[in-house]
Amino acid sequence: VDTYEIDMASCGPMVLDALIKIKNEIDPTLSFRRSCREGICGSCAMNIDGVNTLACTRACTDISRSVVSIHPLPHMPVVKDLIPDLTQFYAQYAAVKPWLISRTPPPPDGERRQSKEDQEKIDRPSACILCACCSTSCPSYWWNSDRYLGPAALLAAYRWIIDSRDEATGERLDGLEDP
Ligand code: FES
Repeated sequence: VDTYEIDMASCGPMVLDALIKIKNEIDPTLSFRRSCREGICGSCAMNIDGVNTLACTRACTDISRSVVSIHPLPHMPVVKDLIPDLTQFYAQYAAVKPWLISRTPPPPDGERRQSKEDQEKIDRPSACILCACCSTSCPSYWWNSDRYLGPAALLAAYRWIIDSRDEATGERLDGLEDP
């Protein structure tokens, strides 16, 4: 574990800004993922002050202590510094077949219509950005991630099970071994 001291008066407001400042000005070897800087891509997920969260949306001023402890997402193999190995996490996501399965051909106009109400059912589960914060804060996932898909993959499965256009509910439940 390394400790870095930075002048917050010349730093952006978010924890990710502080990490970027450290990398630019103090330690170019410090490694972490980031892309959008707007809470959309999920790549900057890490454990900040004991909570799994996104470094780009966590304000430094929200952390009461002057020393902020930052660790990679818990209970995952670490590639380097704050970069967890998400290979298994993504494999579990792929295992729930996160795409539409339909045997009925689409209507001649080419679109599978949904009611507004049916669309609203999938709005929230579709908004998951796969940051892995939930799965890596779940004790059942820590101890049994070889057998338990974890909340993120299960949410993805749920998103397709409740999709009114999907026709593979039985197959999906069988895959989850959930009668
Ligand atoms: Fe994309 Fe933080 S950089 S969610």
